[in-house]
Amino acid sequence: MDKIPTIQTPRLTLRAISKQDAKAVFEYARRKEVGPSAGWNPHVTIKETETFIQYALTKQKRSQPGVWVICEKQRDRAIGSIEVHSYEGYKGEIGFVLHPDYWNRGYITEAAEAVMVYAFERMKLKRLAYAHFLDNDASARVCKKLGFTVEGVRRKGFMHEDGRILDEIVASFTYEDYYSVHKDRFAQIRTHLVFERDQG
Ligand SMILES: CC(C)(COP(=O)(O)OP(=O)(O)OC[C@H]1O[C@@H](n2cnc3c(N)ncnc32)[C@H](O)[C@@H]1OP(=O)(O)O)[C@@H](O)C(=O)NCCC(=O)NCCS
Repeated sequence: MDKIPTIQTPRLTLRAISKQDAKAVFEYARRKEVGPSAGWNPHVTIKETETFIQYALTKQKRSQPGVWVICEKQRDRAIGSIEVHSYEGYKGEIGFVLHPDYWNRGYITEAAEAVMVYAFERMKLKRLAYAHFLDNDASARVCKKLGFTVEGVRRKGFMHEDGRILDEIVASFTYEDYYSVHKDRFAQIRTHLVFERDQG
């Protein structure tokens, strides 16, 4: 699998995560509003964040695309992360988290749209899934804004790191959605993106 490129969006830079991001990632990974909504426990020490980054860095060796950190364009500091995980040749699942200080500015929608361009045009996915817990209203809203179709509830489909087995809403976006239903929207989004070769 190719290394993920750096992607510039109108307001953000998405770039491959690195060990140097540990301090910035820990700043949001330790917040109780972040990890639990995505299925993991808040980090208590920076060591946990370093372990997560180490794991993220091995994803390419396991034929996964890898993890981008999200930075505001004017400041190379990670304020969130986004990835296509569970990649299996023709399909994958998008996941993301953002530092609460930056919520509700449209950042994740902007980052996810860029990753969707990458997923359908470069990775040639036929299906991109997205799953979130039933009480995650911000995620439900992002899902709708992105144009995903809700498929239903996968009952007891996810084991949270805290041990709970939870229902999750599953949604998807397909190749046809990208190249037909949402063609004009993504053609427009595409014109505002710059893909750069990863220097890492
Ligand atoms: C989900 C998350 C990534 C969204 O990031 P974001 O950058 O704030 O998302 P956006 O600004 O693009 O969109 C958020 C939308 O949700 C809406 N929203 C936020 N909180 C909401 C709530 N409690 N109820 C309903 N809508 C809500 C916002 O108003 C916005 O919609 P709008 O643009 O129509 O106003 C962020 O909240 C987060 O990191 N949450 C914790 C981790 C997580 O849940 N990750 C996803 C796991 S599946």
